[in-house]
Amino acid sequence: MTATPGDADVPDRVRDMVAARQQQLETVGADPQALAEQLRQVFEEFTELRMHYQFGIDEVLTKVEILRKEFEQMHEYSPIEHVRTRLKSVESLVEKALRTEGEMTVRAIRERIHDIAGIRITCSFVSDAYWVAEMLAAQGDLEVLTVKDYIASPKANGYRSLHLIVRVPVYLSTHVEQVPVELQIRTIAMDFWASVEHKLSYKYERNLPPELREELDDAARVADDLDARMERLRGEIRPMPVHEGGLFTQRPAPPTED
Ligand code: GTP
Ligand code: MG
Repeated sequence: MTATPGDADVPDRVRDMVAARQQQLETVGADPQALAEQLRQVFEEFTELRMHYQFGIDEVLTKVEILRKEFEQMHEYSPIEHVRTRLKSVESLVEKALRTEGEMTVRAIRERIHDIAGIRITCSFVSDAYWVAEMLAAQGDLEVLTVKDYIASPKANGYRSLHLIVRVPVYLSTHVEQVPVELQIRTIAMDFWASVEHKLSYKYERNLPPELREELDDAARVADDLDARMERLRGEIRPMPVHEGGLFTQRPAPPTED
């Protein structure tokens, strides 16, 4: 490859990848055209995969937005505060695919990675987090694949959240794709804690100094306490509806109506 003035702007990673690929071509004596064709195919498959998962996000997001708008218009109160979505980048998808070990085909990657599409829903109250999870799980075209209740059983580091993997049908021109979407449903306090913990873990590459670890443990207790206090005030704003036979058995009892 001849150097061009723009080379300085090319990210190091990409330049390394190209150099490695070039070296491979020279040493193995592979047919450069056949390799280029293979690379093009992989790129197309990944692009298609990400498109399908984006559609999965769009489908579930519509459901969440409908609930939120219905609540806002009908009750002037919504259990949903904020919604954020994210589609895993190709880079982090490839990184997780390598880390989780297995075939590197698109089909195998789809089977073992269920958080390519993600939606995070933030609620004011713990009971609302369960309520939103129940309302979505009850929808006929959403199939709940897994539920992890890190509110009832927080992680060792204090992380709390409800995690659901749901599968949603996406209707394409020739067929229907069943797309798994990871839902993280949590309170504002849980979200605040998780966001700080994530930034610290990233900065210290998961080796947090003990004093920060303790500070985070304490903050997790404070967040938990704040949620419990807010829950007691919740009944003043809007009494909880009564659920029957839902996904969760350990959720907080709804405050009684007077
Ligand atoms: P991943 O491979 O990381 O996706 O984990 P997993 O497949 O074991 O699933 P889990 O339900 O434990 O976590 C899924 C996602 O929840 C993560 O990708 C994070 O976004 C979030 N999460 C889980 N644990 C923590 C945590 O301790 N701190 C923070 N900040 N986020 C977490
Ligand atoms: Mg993840």
